[in-house]
Amino acid sequence: MCGIVGYAGCDKAGPVLFDTLKRLEYRGYDSAGVAIISDGDLLVLKAAGRIADLEKSYLRGGSLGSSTGIGHTRWATHGPPTTENAHPHVSGDVAVVHNGIIQNYLELKEDLLRRGFVFRSDTDTEVLAHLIGSFYMGDLEEAVRSAVCRVEGSYAIAALARGSSRLVCARNESPLVIGIGKGANYVASDVSALLPYTRDIVRMNDGEIAVIDHERVVLRDLSGILLPLDLERVDWDVEAAERAGYPHFMLKEIHEQPRSVQETIATRVSEMDGDVRIDIGLTVDEIRALERVSIVACGTSYHAAVLAKYLYPKAAGLPVDVEVASEFQHHLLRPGTLLLSITQSGETADTLSAMKRASTFGVKRIAISNVVGSTVTRMVDETIYTRCGPEIGVAATKTFTGQLVSLILLGIKLGRGKNHLSYENSRKMLVELTRLPGQIQEVLERRDQIREIAEKYANSDRYFFIGRDYLYPIALEGALKMKEISYISAEGYPGGELKHGPLALITEGTPVVALATFGKKIQANIKEVRARGADVIAFASEGDPDISKIANTVVELPVARPVLSSVLCTVALQLLAYYTADARGLPIDKPRNLAKSVTVE
Ligand code: M6R
Repeated sequence: MCGIVGYAGCDKAGPVLFDTLKRLEYRGYDSAGVAIISDGDLLVLKAAGRIADLEKSYLRGGSLGSSTGIGHTRWATHGPPTTENAHPHVSGDVAVVHNGIIQNYLELKEDLLRRGFVFRSDTDTEVLAHLIGSFYMGDLEEAVRSAVCRVEGSYAIAALARGSSRLVCARNESPLVIGIGKGANYVASDVSALLPYTRDIVRMNDGEIAVIDHERVVLRDLSGILLPLDLERVDWDVEAAERAGYPHFMLKEIHEQPRSVQETIATRVSEMDGDVRIDIGLTVDEIRALERVSIVACGTSYHAAVLAKYLYPKAAGLPVDVEVASEFQHHLLRPGTLLLSITQSGETADTLSAMKRASTFGVKRIAISNVVGSTVTRMVDETIYTRCGPEIGVAATKTFTGQLVSLILLGIKLGRGKNHLSYENSRKMLVELTRLPGQIQEVLERRDQIREIAEKYANSDRYFFIGRDYLYPIALEGALKMKEISYISAEGYPGGELKHGPLALITEGTPVVALATFGKKIQANIKEVRARGADVIAFASEGDPDISKIANTVVELPVARPVLSSVLCTVALQLLAYYTADARGLPIDKPRNLAKSVTVE
């Protein structure tokens, strides 16, 4: 779980490396390092802590170095976040940065130790560096090829050698993108790092090795066969990848939701046909024959999946089971099942491994993802893209609403395909769906009221979130958002469940967020917690005559049908979590111990 970058050009490598690394800091930020060719020698600078601090020592040292270099930002897996464990790792004339996990590192290490290699870190990457170093006789490409052929596990690697102005990169099961510039070429774990430099990219595939200098990129497979460069032009702009004046990416991304949801819907809704235009890789007959939908996902994406559990039986007559991806190993899939993975990054190791296992059942596999060309999208029959643009804040926001809306579109598609949803109902739902971006904007305009509530309860030890039906997954998500960025203990429950145990934790003034935009039963649950001293903050539909009589505070949201009100409640809870963390002065975009893309199981 790290970010790697590389530069081969005509300008000084240092500034480009630090700039691109900072753009990848969301992938990990416990230590960082660069290796730059300097007067034919290798200049290696690395330290525990933030990239900005490392950059300061680079500048203090006189910004040395030529125009070729590699860099790394780390999220510890093997060994603690120390300077010794920071990348690059050096072996003889070779420096290496790596993202991924080398599974057979122990046996490789024993062999290298026997051959006299000295290890300075606890990392599996140093094993890789020594392995490459052991093969290096002046041809770095050949050395990398020989090394990766002996390695089991996942890797995205960038390497350089003393005296050379070329980078050598390789990929297996970890993302790596090459940027093609004018008089300069780049490499990075993610496109967003390269946007200020180029929009022309080549996504590396598993089993490929690239040799990059300032003029050329040469791609080969592991047996040395030359491969064509599959050039892609990325239309994300630089602005989209930067904060645009907001104090945090998270707040910016929350405010982008009217547009991102619009993008998710755009060109996919045909009100006239009462249908949805998305390709899910299934024929009309295959959709009719479907008996069940199984969904695997992690974290926030898992919460999105839970919505389908409520929607698809009603909309499409399809039962749904949802599994946390890391617990999928005992799950059996019957023929007639559609397996759906939901992952914004498309790189979550638990989800990828569940999808791999699912391939043995011979069922159709599709994905909902935000990242075009990500690993999951290459494993499945079809992907529904959420089209949210890059999400930098570690806490998922716009990609979650993108997932909810994509799931609703898929539900309508399945419902129509199975003749379960009438033309009239489907058409009505689609018309209401197109109003959603405007309604999200109205929720955003309630931000001052939500900020006041957040500030009032910012010093609470714990929060509860309750919701029923479509709002239960939103209660889960509201609690996750609260705990991951504000560090307040928060639990999400179905409204009816508190009385089965958690009620014991309610004391005078405990904040309980009640999602109450529809249904009467939640009102009974509000009364239960009020009777035990809780302060109830209710999110309810505008004009609800009852809620203000029973809740301490009411935030009114635009009136929407139940399934769509789940999206509106989500936005309100994102703001609540954001302003709570802000009031507590926390590092909102980079919460402790967390990383954006979790590429280890
Ligand atoms: O990229 P994915 O959607 O697969 O990521 C899954 C989770 O790691 C992710 O949703 C995580 O829970 C976020 N920090 C939530 O804000």
